[in-house]
Amino acid sequence: MPDKNNSKPTHSHKSKLHQTISTNAGAPIPSNEHILTAGERGPVLLQDYFFLEKMAHFDRERIPERVVHAKGAGAYGYFEVTHDLTKYSKADFLSKVGLKTDVIVRFSTVGGEKGSSDFERDPRGFAIKFYTLEGNYDLVGNNLPVFFIRDPFKFPDMVHTHKRNPQSNLKDKNAFWDFNSLSPETTHMLTMLFSDRGTPKSYRNMHGFGVHTFKFVNKKNESHFLKWHFKSEAGIETYTDSEANLADVDGATRDLFEYINKGERAIWKAYVQIMPEKDALTYKFNPFDPTKVWLYSDYPLLPVGKLVLDRNPNNFFQEIEQLAFSPANFVPGIEASPDKLLQGRLFSYTDTQRHRLGANFALIPVNCPYAKKITNYQRDGAMRVDGNGGSSINYSPNSYGGPRSNPLKLEQAIVLSGNSCRSEYPKKDDFVQAGLLYKLFSETEKNNLTTNIAGHMKYIDKEIKVRQLGYFYQADKDYAMRIANILGISEKEIKAYMS
Ligand code: HEM
Repeated sequence: MPDKNNSKPTHSHKSKLHQTISTNAGAPIPSNEHILTAGERGPVLLQDYFFLEKMAHFDRERIPERVVHAKGAGAYGYFEVTHDLTKYSKADFLSKVGLKTDVIVRFSTVGGEKGSSDFERDPRGFAIKFYTLEGNYDLVGNNLPVFFIRDPFKFPDMVHTHKRNPQSNLKDKNAFWDFNSLSPETTHMLTMLFSDRGTPKSYRNMHGFGVHTFKFVNKKNESHFLKWHFKSEAGIETYTDSEANLADVDGATRDLFEYINKGERAIWKAYVQIMPEKDALTYKFNPFDPTKVWLYSDYPLLPVGKLVLDRNPNNFFQEIEQLAFSPANFVPGIEASPDKLLQGRLFSYTDTQRHRLGANFALIPVNCPYAKKITNYQRDGAMRVDGNGGSSINYSPNSYGGPRSNPLKLEQAIVLSGNSCRSEYPKKDDFVQAGLLYKLFSETEKNNLTTNIAGHMKYIDKEIKVRQLGYFYQADKDYAMRIANILGISEKEIKAYMS
Protein backbone atom coordinates (compact mmCIF):
# COMPACT_ATOMS: atom_id res chain seq x y z
CA MET A 1 0.00 0.00 0.00
CA PRO A 2 -0.72 2.44 -1.40
CA ASP A 3 -1.55 -0.32 -3.84
CA LYS A 4 -1.67 0.74 -7.48
CA ASN A 5 -4.77 -1.34 -7.98
CA ASN A 6 -6.63 -0.46 -4.85
CA SER A 7 -8.99 1.92 -6.55
CA LYS A 8 -10.41 -0.93 -8.63
CA PRO A 9 -13.75 -2.08 -7.24
CA THR A 10 -13.33 -5.36 -5.39
CA HIS A 11 -17.01 -6.22 -5.90
CA SER A 12 -19.74 -5.34 -8.28
CA HIS A 13 -23.32 -4.52 -7.44
CA LYS A 14 -24.31 -6.83 -10.27
CA SER A 15 -22.31 -9.78 -8.94
CA LYS A 16 -24.38 -12.94 -8.46
CA LEU A 17 -21.76 -14.64 -6.27
CA HIS A 18 -22.50 -14.07 -2.60
CA GLN A 19 -20.35 -15.06 0.32
CA THR A 20 -21.94 -15.87 3.62
CA ILE A 21 -21.92 -12.89 5.98
CA SER A 22 -19.83 -13.60 9.06
CA THR A 23 -18.98 -12.39 12.56
CA ASN A 24 -15.55 -10.91 13.14
CA ALA A 25 -14.51 -14.35 14.30
CA GLY A 26 -15.53 -15.68 10.90
CA ALA A 27 -18.62 -17.62 11.96
CA PRO A 28 -21.62 -17.55 9.59
CA ILE A 29 -24.56 -15.28 10.51
CA PRO A 30 -28.02 -16.74 9.92
CA SER A 31 -29.83 -13.38 9.57
CA ASN A 32 -28.59 -9.84 9.08
CA GLU A 33 -32.10 -8.42 9.36
CA HIS A 34 -33.86 -10.01 12.29
CA ILE A 35 -32.91 -9.85 15.94
CA LEU A 36 -33.33 -12.99 18.07
CA THR A 37 -36.48 -12.77 20.19
CA ALA A 38 -38.53 -14.86 22.57
CA GLY A 39 -41.43 -15.53 20.22
CA GLU A 40 -42.37 -13.37 17.25
CA ARG A 41 -43.38 -10.40 19.42
CA GLY A 42 -40.21 -10.35 21.58
CA PRO A 43 -38.59 -9.43 23.93
CA VAL A 44 -35.02 -9.69 22.70
CA LEU A 45 -32.63 -12.38 23.91
CA LEU A 46 -29.24 -11.26 25.20
CA GLN A 47 -27.65 -14.28 23.59
CA ASP A 48 -27.98 -12.67 20.13
CA TYR A 49 -24.24 -12.11 19.87
CA PHE A 50 -24.56 -11.48 16.13
CA PHE A 51 -26.62 -8.39 16.91
CA LEU A 52 -24.40 -7.31 19.83
CA GLU A 53 -21.23 -7.48 17.76
CA LYS A 54 -22.76 -5.58 14.84
CA MET A 55 -24.14 -2.83 17.08
CA ALA A 56 -21.03 -2.56 19.27
CA HIS A 57 -18.85 -2.04 16.20
CA PHE A 58 -21.22 0.51 14.76
CA ASP A 59 -21.18 2.37 18.11
CA ARG A 60 -17.44 2.84 17.68
CA GLU A 61 -17.33 3.82 13.98
CA ARG A 62 -16.37 7.44 14.54
CA ILE A 63 -12.89 8.57 15.44
CA PRO A 64 -12.14 12.17 16.45
CA GLU A 65 -12.19 14.44 13.45
CA ARG A 66 -9.09 16.55 12.82
CA VAL A 67 -9.06 19.48 15.25
CA VAL A 68 -8.62 21.70 12.17
CA HIS A 69 -8.98 20.79 8.46
CA ALA A 70 -11.71 18.25 9.31
CA LYS A 71 -13.46 18.37 5.92
CA GLY A 72 -11.36 17.25 3.00
CA ALA A 73 -10.84 15.11 -0.06
CA GLY A 74 -7.79 13.40 -1.49
CA ALA A 75 -6.27 11.49 -4.36
CA TYR A 76 -3.13 9.64 -5.40
CA GLY A 77 -0.70 10.49 -8.14
CA TYR A 78 2.94 11.28 -8.70
CA PHE A 79 5.49 14.06 -8.62
CA GLU A 80 7.85 14.21 -11.60
CA VAL A 81 11.09 16.17 -11.65
CA THR A 82 11.27 18.38 -14.74
CA HIS A 83 14.28 20.55 -13.85
CA ASP A 84 17.57 19.80 -12.16
CA LEU A 85 17.78 21.04 -8.56
CA THR A 86 20.79 19.05 -7.40
CA LYS A 87 22.73 22.30 -7.10
CA TYR A 88 20.48 23.12 -4.15
CA SER A 89 19.27 19.84 -2.64
CA LYS A 90 20.57 16.32 -2.24
CA ALA A 91 17.01 14.99 -1.72
CA ASP A 92 16.83 11.69 -3.55
CA PHE A 93 13.38 12.36 -5.02
CA LEU A 94 14.74 15.53 -6.68
CA SER A 95 17.93 13.88 -7.90
CA LYS A 96 17.14 13.30 -11.57
CA VAL A 97 15.05 14.92 -14.28
CA GLY A 98 12.28 12.48 -15.19
CA LEU A 99 12.23 10.80 -11.77
CA LYS A 100 8.71 10.05 -10.56
CA THR A 101 7.70 9.69 -6.91
CA ASP A 102 4.31 8.42 -5.75
CA VAL A 103 2.26 10.94 -3.78
CA ILE A 104 -1.04 11.27 -1.99
CA VAL A 105 -2.61 14.70 -1.63
CA ARG A 106 -5.36 15.86 0.71
CA PHE A 107 -7.20 19.13 0.21
CA SER A 108 -9.35 20.59 2.96
CA THR A 109 -11.14 23.54 4.44
CA VAL A 110 -9.91 24.55 7.89
CA GLY A 111 -12.43 25.76 10.44
CA GLY A 112 -15.55 23.78 9.54
CA GLU A 113 -16.53 20.38 10.83
CA LYS A 114 -16.43 17.20 8.79
CA GLY A 115 -19.92 17.88 7.39
CA SER A 116 -19.39 21.57 6.66
CA SER A 117 -19.41 23.25 3.26
CA ASP A 118 -16.47 22.95 0.87
CA PHE A 119 -17.08 26.60 0.04
CA GLU A 120 -16.76 28.37 3.37
CA ARG A 121 -14.50 31.40 3.32
CA ASP A 122 -11.38 29.76 4.67
CA PRO A 123 -7.88 28.88 3.56
CA ARG A 124 -7.75 25.50 1.82
CA GLY A 125 -5.29 22.87 2.99
CA PHE A 126 -2.97 21.50 0.29
CA ALA A 127 -1.02 18.64 1.86
CA ILE A 128 1.28 16.39 -0.16
CA LYS A 129 2.91 13.16 1.02
CA PHE A 130 5.83 12.10 -1.18
CA TYR A 131 6.63 8.38 -0.75
CA THR A 132 10.36 8.76 -1.41
CA LEU A 133 13.10 6.14 -1.26
CA GLU A 134 14.48 7.98 1.78
CA GLY A 135 11.17 7.98 3.65
CA ASN A 136 8.05 10.10 3.46
CA TYR A 137 8.40 13.81 2.84
CA ASP A 138 5.27 15.78 3.79
CA LEU A 139 4.63 19.27 2.51
CA VAL A 140 1.63 20.43 4.55
CA GLY A 141 0.69 23.66 2.86
CA ASN A 142 -2.26 25.89 2.01
CA ASN A 143 -3.75 27.54 -1.06
CA LEU A 144 -2.74 31.00 0.15
CA PRO A 145 0.96 31.92 0.36
CA VAL A 146 0.88 33.49 3.85
CA PHE A 147 -0.65 32.71 7.23
CA PHE A 148 -2.57 34.63 9.92
CA ILE A 149 0.05 34.54 12.67
CA ARG A 150 3.78 34.03 13.05
CA ASP A 151 4.08 32.67 16.58
CA PRO A 152 2.79 29.13 17.27
CA PHE A 153 1.81 30.15 20.83
CA LYS A 154 -1.15 32.01 19.33
CA PHE A 155 -2.46 29.14 17.18
CA PRO A 156 -4.94 27.51 19.64
CA ASP A 157 -6.47 30.93 20.46
CA MET A 158 -6.71 31.85 16.80
CA VAL A 159 -8.43 28.57 15.97
CA HIS A 160 -10.91 29.02 18.84
CA THR A 161 -12.08 32.24 17.19
CA HIS A 162 -12.58 30.49 13.84
CA LYS A 163 -14.68 27.78 15.48
CA ARG A 164 -17.90 27.97 17.49
CA ASN A 165 -18.76 30.13 20.50
CA PRO A 166 -18.44 28.10 23.72
CA GLN A 167 -21.95 29.06 24.86
CA SER A 168 -24.11 29.46 21.76
CA ASN A 169 -22.23 26.92 19.62
CA LEU A 170 -22.55 29.42 16.76
CA LYS A 171 -19.76 30.77 14.58
CA ASP A 172 -18.68 33.96 16.31
CA LYS A 173 -17.73 36.86 14.05
CA ASN A 174 -17.16 39.13 17.04
CA ALA A 175 -14.51 36.75 18.43
CA PHE A 176 -12.96 36.37 14.97
CA TRP A 177 -12.50 40.14 14.52
CA ASP A 178 -11.64 40.72 18.18
CA PHE A 179 -8.64 38.40 17.83
CA ASN A 180 -7.64 39.83 14.45
CA SER A 181 -7.99 43.42 15.57
CA LEU A 182 -5.58 42.66 18.42
CA SER A 183 -3.18 40.79 16.09
CA PRO A 184 -1.94 43.19 13.40
CA GLU A 185 0.10 40.45 11.72
CA THR A 186 -3.18 38.93 10.41
CA THR A 187 -3.83 41.90 8.07
CA HIS A 188 -2.03 40.46 5.03
CA MET A 189 -3.73 37.06 5.32
CA LEU A 190 -7.16 38.67 5.84
CA THR A 191 -6.63 40.68 2.65
CA MET A 192 -6.18 37.43 0.75
CA LEU A 193 -8.86 35.49 2.62
CA PHE A 194 -11.60 38.06 2.07
CA SER A 195 -10.76 38.40 -1.61
CA ASP A 196 -12.38 35.81 -3.87
CA ARG A 197 -9.25 33.66 -3.39
CA GLY A 198 -10.88 32.74 -0.06
CA THR A 199 -13.61 30.87 -1.93
CA PRO A 200 -11.99 28.73 -4.67
CA LYS A 201 -14.37 27.10 -7.14
CA SER A 202 -12.76 23.68 -6.74
CA TYR A 203 -9.66 22.08 -5.28
CA ARG A 204 -8.27 21.83 -8.82
CA ASN A 205 -8.70 25.57 -9.38
CA MET A 206 -6.29 26.77 -6.73
CA HIS A 207 -2.56 27.01 -6.24
CA GLY A 208 -0.66 25.37 -3.38
CA PHE A 209 2.05 26.95 -1.21
CA GLY A 210 4.40 25.58 1.41
CA VAL A 211 3.95 29.01 3.09
CA HIS A 212 6.96 28.58 5.37
CA THR A 213 10.59 29.04 4.46
CA PHE A 214 12.46 25.73 4.34
CA LYS A 215 16.13 24.90 3.90
CA PHE A 216 17.65 22.95 1.03
CA VAL A 217 21.02 21.27 1.69
CA ASN A 218 23.10 19.94 -1.18
CA LYS A 219 25.73 17.18 -1.35
CA LYS A 220 28.50 19.67 -0.47
CA ASN A 221 26.54 20.57 2.68
CA GLU A 222 25.78 24.03 1.32
CA SER A 223 22.39 25.43 2.15
CA HIS A 224 19.81 27.77 0.63
CA PHE A 225 16.42 28.86 1.89
CA LEU A 226 13.40 28.11 -0.25
CA LYS A 227 9.67 28.47 -0.60
CA TRP A 228 7.46 25.94 -2.45
CA HIS A 229 4.80 26.95 -5.00
CA PHE A 230 2.40 24.68 -6.91
CA LYS A 231 0.54 26.41 -9.75
CA SER A 232 -2.71 24.88 -10.92
CA GLU A 233 -2.74 23.97 -14.59
CA ALA A 234 -6.53 24.35 -14.61
CA GLY A 235 -5.96 27.95 -13.44
CA ILE A 236 -7.38 29.88 -10.54
CA GLU A 237 -11.17 30.04 -10.51
CA THR A 238 -13.12 31.47 -7.65
CA TYR A 239 -16.67 32.00 -6.45
CA THR A 240 -17.98 35.34 -5.28
CA ASP A 241 -19.25 35.40 -1.71
CA SER A 242 -22.87 34.89 -2.73
CA GLU A 243 -22.04 32.12 -5.22
CA ALA A 244 -20.04 30.32 -2.51
CA ASN A 245 -22.95 30.58 -0.08
CA LEU A 246 -25.28 28.94 -2.60
CA ALA A 247 -22.87 26.23 -3.82
CA ASP A 248 -23.31 22.48 -3.23
CA VAL A 249 -21.68 21.88 0.17
CA ASP A 250 -19.75 18.88 -1.19
CA GLY A 251 -19.02 20.48 -4.56
CA ALA A 252 -15.21 20.52 -4.33
CA THR A 253 -15.09 16.93 -3.06
CA ARG A 254 -17.44 15.86 -5.86
CA ASP A 255 -15.46 17.74 -8.50
CA LEU A 256 -12.16 16.10 -7.57
CA PHE A 257 -13.60 12.60 -7.30
CA GLU A 258 -15.64 12.75 -10.49
CA TYR A 259 -12.90 14.41 -12.51
CA ILE A 260 -10.39 11.69 -11.65
CA ASN A 261 -13.00 8.95 -11.97
CA LYS A 262 -13.55 10.07 -15.60
CA GLY A 263 -9.88 9.27 -16.24
CA GLU A 264 -8.77 12.92 -16.17
CA ARG A 265 -5.65 14.14 -14.38
CA ALA A 266 -5.41 17.14 -12.07
CA ILE A 267 -2.05 18.85 -12.60
CA TRP A 268 0.04 21.48 -10.85
CA LYS A 269 3.47 22.79 -11.92
CA ALA A 270 5.91 22.95 -9.01
CA TYR A 271 8.34 25.83 -8.46
CA VAL A 272 10.70 27.02 -5.77
CA GLN A 273 11.96 30.44 -4.82
CA ILE A 274 15.55 30.17 -3.66
CA MET A 275 17.24 32.61 -1.29
CA PRO A 276 20.99 32.46 -0.63
CA GLU A 277 21.56 32.06 3.11
CA LYS A 278 23.39 35.34 3.49
CA ASP A 279 20.39 37.30 2.11
CA ALA A 280 18.30 36.14 5.06
CA LEU A 281 19.99 38.68 7.30
CA THR A 282 19.49 41.63 5.00
CA TYR A 283 16.28 40.99 2.99
CA LYS A 284 13.80 43.83 3.40
CA PHE A 285 11.20 41.44 4.85
CA ASN A 286 12.00 38.88 7.53
CA PRO A 287 12.24 35.72 5.40
CA PHE A 288 11.14 33.51 8.31
CA ASP A 289 7.92 35.40 8.91
CA PRO A 290 5.06 33.37 7.35
CA THR A 291 2.81 36.44 7.21
CA LYS A 292 5.05 37.68 4.38
CA VAL A 293 5.84 36.60 0.84
CA TRP A 294 9.18 36.96 -0.91
CA LEU A 295 8.59 39.22 -3.88
CA TYR A 296 8.93 37.41 -7.22
CA SER A 297 10.95 40.35 -8.48
CA ASP A 298 13.52 39.60 -5.75
CA TYR A 299 13.41 35.79 -5.88
CA PRO A 300 11.92 34.50 -9.14
CA LEU A 301 10.14 31.18 -9.45
CA LEU A 302 12.36 28.33 -10.62
CA PRO A 303 10.51 25.40 -12.19
CA VAL A 304 11.10 22.04 -10.50
CA GLY A 305 8.51 19.51 -11.47
CA LYS A 306 4.90 18.62 -11.84
CA LEU A 307 2.33 17.15 -9.53
CA VAL A 308 -0.25 14.89 -11.15
CA LEU A 309 -3.28 13.38 -9.42
CA ASP A 310 -4.78 10.48 -11.33
CA ARG A 311 -6.22 7.90 -8.94
CA ASN A 312 -9.04 8.05 -6.42
CA PRO A 313 -8.90 6.29 -3.08
CA ASN A 314 -10.86 3.08 -2.90
CA ASN A 315 -12.00 3.64 0.66
CA PHE A 316 -12.29 7.16 2.05
CA PHE A 317 -11.97 6.31 5.74
CA GLN A 318 -9.00 3.99 5.33
CA GLU A 319 -7.03 6.15 2.93
CA ILE A 320 -8.08 9.77 3.48
CA GLU A 321 -9.62 10.06 6.95
CA GLN A 322 -6.76 8.09 8.48
CA LEU A 323 -4.15 9.93 6.45
CA ALA A 324 -1.63 11.66 8.72
CA PHE A 325 0.70 14.42 7.52
CA SER A 326 3.39 16.12 9.53
CA PRO A 327 5.57 19.13 8.66
CA ALA A 328 8.27 17.30 10.67
CA ASN A 329 8.48 14.59 7.99
CA PHE A 330 11.57 15.77 6.12
CA VAL A 331 14.05 13.75 4.06
CA PRO A 332 17.81 14.38 3.80
CA GLY A 333 18.32 17.51 1.68
CA ILE A 334 15.28 19.41 3.02
CA GLU A 335 15.23 20.82 6.54
CA ALA A 336 13.31 23.25 8.74
CA SER A 337 14.22 26.93 8.77
CA PRO A 338 14.14 28.99 11.99
CA ASP A 339 10.52 30.05 11.20
CA LYS A 340 8.92 29.89 14.67
CA LEU A 341 5.48 28.93 13.37
CA LEU A 342 6.98 26.01 11.48
CA GLN A 343 8.95 24.95 14.54
CA GLY A 344 5.72 24.91 16.59
CA ARG A 345 4.06 22.76 13.94
CA LEU A 346 6.85 20.19 14.08
CA PHE A 347 5.42 19.02 17.41
CA SER A 348 1.69 19.38 16.92
CA TYR A 349 0.80 17.02 14.07
CA THR A 350 2.12 13.67 15.26
CA ASP A 351 0.92 14.60 18.75
CA THR A 352 -2.68 15.03 17.56
CA GLN A 353 -2.37 11.89 15.41
CA ARG A 354 -1.44 9.77 18.44
CA HIS A 355 -4.73 10.99 19.91
CA ARG A 356 -6.78 10.87 16.69
CA LEU A 357 -5.51 7.58 15.29
CA GLY A 358 -3.49 5.90 18.07
CA ALA A 359 0.15 5.32 18.93
CA ASN A 360 0.75 3.21 15.85
CA PHE A 361 -0.80 5.65 13.35
CA ALA A 362 2.36 5.52 11.22
CA LEU A 363 1.66 1.86 10.46
CA ILE A 364 -1.69 2.57 8.80
CA PRO A 365 -0.83 1.64 5.21
CA VAL A 366 -1.34 5.08 3.72
CA ASN A 367 0.98 6.62 6.31
CA CYS A 368 3.69 3.98 5.98
CA PRO A 369 6.87 4.95 4.17
CA TYR A 370 6.23 1.97 1.93
CA ALA A 371 9.13 2.83 -0.39
CA LYS A 372 11.50 2.68 2.59
CA LYS A 373 10.91 0.10 5.33
CA ILE A 374 10.63 1.42 8.92
CA THR A 375 13.73 0.15 10.74
CA ASN A 376 13.82 1.14 14.40
CA TYR A 377 13.36 -0.22 17.92
CA GLN A 378 9.86 1.08 18.59
CA ARG A 379 7.62 -1.81 19.61
CA ASP A 380 4.14 -2.67 20.92
CA GLY A 381 1.29 -0.18 21.51
CA ALA A 382 -2.39 -0.48 20.63
CA MET A 383 -3.25 -2.09 17.28
CA ARG A 384 0.32 -3.15 16.47
CA VAL A 385 -0.46 -5.56 13.67
CA ASP A 386 2.51 -5.32 11.33
CA GLY A 387 4.53 -8.14 12.89
CA ASN A 388 5.91 -5.83 15.61
CA GLY A 389 9.51 -6.53 14.61
CA GLY A 390 8.95 -10.26 15.07
CA SER A 391 11.80 -11.91 16.94
CA SER A 392 14.32 -9.24 15.93
CA ILE A 393 16.32 -7.40 18.54
CA ASN A 394 14.46 -4.53 20.29
CA TYR A 395 17.26 -2.45 21.83
CA SER A 396 20.24 -0.40 20.70
CA PRO A 397 23.23 -0.41 20.86
CA ASN A 398 23.41 -4.16 20.31
CA SER A 399 25.95 -6.67 19.05
CA TYR A 400 23.49 -8.56 16.84
CA GLY A 401 23.27 -6.58 13.65
CA GLY A 402 20.22 -4.41 14.39
CA PRO A 403 19.76 -1.11 12.49
CA ARG A 404 22.28 1.62 13.34
CA SER A 405 22.24 5.39 13.07
CA ASN A 406 23.91 6.90 10.03
CA PRO A 407 26.11 9.93 10.80
CA LEU A 408 26.25 10.75 7.09
CA LYS A 409 22.59 11.75 7.33
CA LEU A 410 23.24 14.40 9.98
CA GLU A 411 21.21 17.61 9.72
CA GLN A 412 23.24 20.66 8.81
CA ALA A 413 24.69 22.37 11.90
CA ILE A 414 22.84 25.55 12.81
CA VAL A 415 24.83 28.55 14.00
CA LEU A 416 23.05 29.96 17.06
CA SER A 417 23.56 33.16 19.01
CA GLY A 418 21.75 35.40 21.47
CA ASN A 419 19.95 34.91 24.76
CA SER A 420 16.79 32.91 25.08
CA CYS A 421 13.74 35.16 24.99
CA ARG A 422 10.02 35.33 24.29
CA SER A 423 9.70 38.15 21.82
CA GLU A 424 8.28 39.49 18.59
CA TYR A 425 10.50 39.48 15.52
CA PRO A 426 12.44 42.76 15.52
CA LYS A 427 11.09 43.73 12.09
CA LYS A 428 7.32 43.31 11.85
CA ASP A 429 6.03 45.41 8.93
CA ASP A 430 2.50 44.15 9.47
CA PHE A 431 0.82 46.34 6.85
CA VAL A 432 3.27 46.85 3.97
CA GLN A 433 2.51 43.69 2.02
CA ALA A 434 -1.25 43.95 2.66
CA GLY A 435 -1.11 47.43 1.13
CA LEU A 436 0.96 46.27 -1.85
CA LEU A 437 -1.51 43.46 -2.51
CA TYR A 438 -4.51 45.78 -2.25
CA LYS A 439 -2.97 48.12 -4.82
CA LEU A 440 -2.53 45.19 -7.22
CA PHE A 441 -6.25 44.31 -7.13
CA SER A 442 -8.54 45.39 -9.97
CA GLU A 443 -11.52 47.62 -9.22
CA THR A 444 -13.82 44.56 -9.07
CA GLU A 445 -11.42 42.74 -6.76
CA LYS A 446 -11.18 45.76 -4.45
CA ASN A 447 -14.93 46.01 -4.43
CA ASN A 448 -15.46 42.32 -3.65
CA LEU A 449 -12.80 42.34 -0.93
CA THR A 450 -14.15 45.37 0.87
CA THR A 451 -17.83 44.39 0.61
CA ASN A 452 -16.96 40.85 1.81
CA ILE A 453 -15.20 42.29 4.86
CA ALA A 454 -17.90 44.87 5.58
CA GLY A 455 -20.60 42.19 5.30
CA HIS A 456 -18.73 39.98 7.75
CA MET A 457 -18.03 42.80 10.22
CA LYS A 458 -21.52 44.29 10.13
CA TYR A 459 -22.87 43.06 13.46
CA ILE A 460 -19.72 43.04 15.60
CA ASP A 461 -18.90 45.49 18.42
CA LYS A 462 -18.13 48.99 17.19
CA GLU A 463 -14.84 49.22 19.10
CA ILE A 464 -13.55 46.11 17.31
CA LYS A 465 -14.66 47.48 13.93
CA VAL A 466 -12.78 50.74 14.47
CA ARG A 467 -9.65 48.98 15.77
CA GLN A 468 -9.61 46.64 12.75
CA LEU A 469 -10.19 49.52 10.35
CA GLY A 470 -7.08 51.14 11.83
CA TYR A 471 -5.03 48.19 10.54
CA PHE A 472 -6.60 48.34 7.08
CA TYR A 473 -6.00 52.11 7.10
CA GLN A 474 -2.30 51.59 7.77
CA ALA A 475 -2.20 49.13 4.84
CA ASP A 476 -4.05 51.47 2.46
CA LYS A 477 -6.35 54.37 3.16
CA ASP A 478 -8.74 53.58 0.28
CA TYR A 479 -8.98 49.95 1.50
CA ALA A 480 -10.09 51.04 4.97
CA MET A 481 -12.38 53.83 3.84
CA ARG A 482 -14.36 51.65 1.42
CA ILE A 483 -15.16 49.32 4.32
CA ALA A 484 -15.70 52.20 6.74
CA ASN A 485 -18.18 53.87 4.39
CA ILE A 486 -20.32 50.74 4.24
CA LEU A 487 -20.16 50.39 8.02
CA GLY A 488 -20.92 54.09 8.61
CA ILE A 489 -17.63 54.84 10.38
CA SER A 490 -15.76 58.07 9.70
CA GLU A 491 -12.08 58.60 8.97
CA LYS A 492 -11.95 60.81 12.08
CA GLU A 493 -13.10 57.93 14.29
CA ILE A 494 -10.46 55.59 12.82
CA LYS A 495 -7.70 58.16 13.19
CA ALA A 496 -8.76 59.00 16.75
CA TYR A 497 -8.49 55.32 17.67
CA MET A 498 -5.09 54.95 15.99
CA SER A 499 -3.56 57.95 17.75
C1 HEM B 1 -3.89 20.14 9.98
C2 HEM B 1 -1.82 22.27 13.78
C3 HEM B 1 -0.39 25.94 11.01
C4 HEM B 1 -1.76 23.43 7.13
C5 HEM B 1 -3.50 20.42 11.26
C6 HEM B 1 -3.78 19.62 12.40
C7 HEM B 1 -3.19 20.21 13.47
C8 HEM B 1 -2.55 21.40 12.99
C9 HEM B 1 -3.18 19.73 14.90
C10 HEM B 1 -4.57 18.32 12.39
C11 HEM B 1 -3.65 17.20 11.92
C12 HEM B 1 -4.29 15.84 11.94
O1 HEM B 1 -5.26 15.62 12.69
O2 HEM B 1 -3.79 14.97 11.21
C13 HEM B 1 -1.23 23.42 13.35
C14 HEM B 1 -0.46 24.33 14.18
C15 HEM B 1 -0.08 25.37 13.41
C16 HEM B 1 -0.59 25.11 12.07
C17 HEM B 1 -0.17 24.09 15.65
C18 HEM B 1 0.73 26.58 13.76
C19 HEM B 1 1.39 26.70 14.90
C20 HEM B 1 -0.59 25.57 9.72
C21 HEM B 1 -0.09 26.27 8.57
C22 HEM B 1 -0.48 25.55 7.49
C23 HEM B 1 -1.23 24.40 7.94
C24 HEM B 1 0.76 27.53 8.61
C25 HEM B 1 -0.20 25.82 6.05
C26 HEM B 1 0.97 26.21 5.65
C27 HEM B 1 -2.45 22.33 7.59
C28 HEM B 1 -3.08 21.37 6.71
C29 HEM B 1 -3.69 20.43 7.53
C30 HEM B 1 -3.44 20.82 8.89
C31 HEM B 1 -3.07 21.39 5.20
C32 HEM B 1 -4.52 19.24 7.08
C33 HEM B 1 -3.63 18.04 6.80
C34 HEM B 1 -4.48 16.89 6.29
O3 HEM B 1 -5.03 17.04 5.19
O4 HEM B 1 -4.58 15.88 6.98
N1 HEM B 1 -2.76 21.53 11.65
N2 HEM B 1 -1.28 23.92 12.08
N3 HEM B 1 -1.28 24.44 9.30
N4 HEM B 1 -2.68 21.97 8.89
FE1 HEM B 1 -1.97 22.94 10.47
